[in-house]
Amino acid sequence: MIAAYQTRCQARVDAALEALFTPPRHELTRLYQAMRYSVVNGGKRVRPLLAYAACEALGGDSERADGAACAVELIHAYSLVHDDLPAMDDDDLRRGQPTTHIAFDEACAILAGDGLQTLAFEVLGDARLNPPDAETRLQMIMTLARAAGSAGMVGGQAIDLEAVGRKIDQHALEVMHRHKTGALIEASVRLGALASGHADSERLAALSRYAEAIGLAFQVQDDILDVESDTSTLGKTQGKDQANDKPTYPALLGLDAAKTYALDLRDQALAALQGFDQRAEPLRDLARYIVERRS
Ligand code: IPE
Ligand code: IPE
Ligand code: MG
Ligand code: MG
Ligand code: MG
Repeated sequence: MIAAYQTRCQARVDAALEALFTPPRHELTRLYQAMRYSVVNGGKRVRPLLAYAACEALGGDSERADGAACAVELIHAYSLVHDDLPAMDDDDLRRGQPTTHIAFDEACAILAGDGLQTLAFEVLGDARLNPPDAETRLQMIMTLARAAGSAGMVGGQAIDLEAVGRKIDQHALEVMHRHKTGALIEASVRLGALASGHADSERLAALSRYAEAIGLAFQVQDDILDVESDTSTLGKTQGKDQANDKPTYPALLGLDAAKTYALDLRDQALAALQGFDQRAEPLRDLARYIVERRS
């Protein structure tokens, strides 16, 4: 089920993303190539899937969430380009390909990341890809800006880098993960819900509880896979967290306790969806997928 849903949504968001990388003038060809390279390279598209699934769970047509799906993936792609830079995690492999700063150069990767980030907000402002009502689009822009910025993902990345080589406790680790990964995952769900045109405050709150749990679970599973998967399955270098002395759930709790925690978070996410009908099935499948995935 999830595989078919994933294939359908991936095709949809990939087509919408592909249309964004035509350079407006020939001098910008290399920059746009680097931006495209960082996006059109086989990511799992979990965040766009969440946006589509949240929109559908509230009875919205999925095409209303095209802008949301593109915007969250653009922010995610930018975050990976910068996360891989030598000044951050210093990784040379991403999605099975050389990272953007290796395939191009560092300055180009920084600018490509900057370009992807602003493009995300341009996309959300575009009435052709989003609900026509400007008030909803403004709410979506605010939601994404808060989640991606210094109070959200960027803040989480800052905490991550400051924590390198230090022992941090479980509370501090949770704060870090909720910011660096959870915030954008929560925004993906909320953006999809807002795009549906049927988001009341009660269901939005339930979806936020769902998203908070899977957002944390997503990073716990990412940490687990860094320990027990392999480089070719992951498409990124296995064992880098330990090599970089990163605080992670397996490092703090051990592998078994980290796995139990991820399953517990999945159950919390499913419980948050109890009041939803069968249209929330893709969201339920995604919660299971996030802790079962192998890459
Ligand atoms: C990896 O994200 C970075 C994290 C926030 C943990 P994904 O596992 O979603 O990476 P792609 O998009 O599939 O490459
Ligand atoms: C990345 O976390 C979170 C981001 C905001 C990009 P990681 O550093 O663990 O992601 P990977 O393992 O490199 O994909
Ligand atoms: Mg990192
Ligand atoms: Mg990294
Ligand atoms: Mg990781």
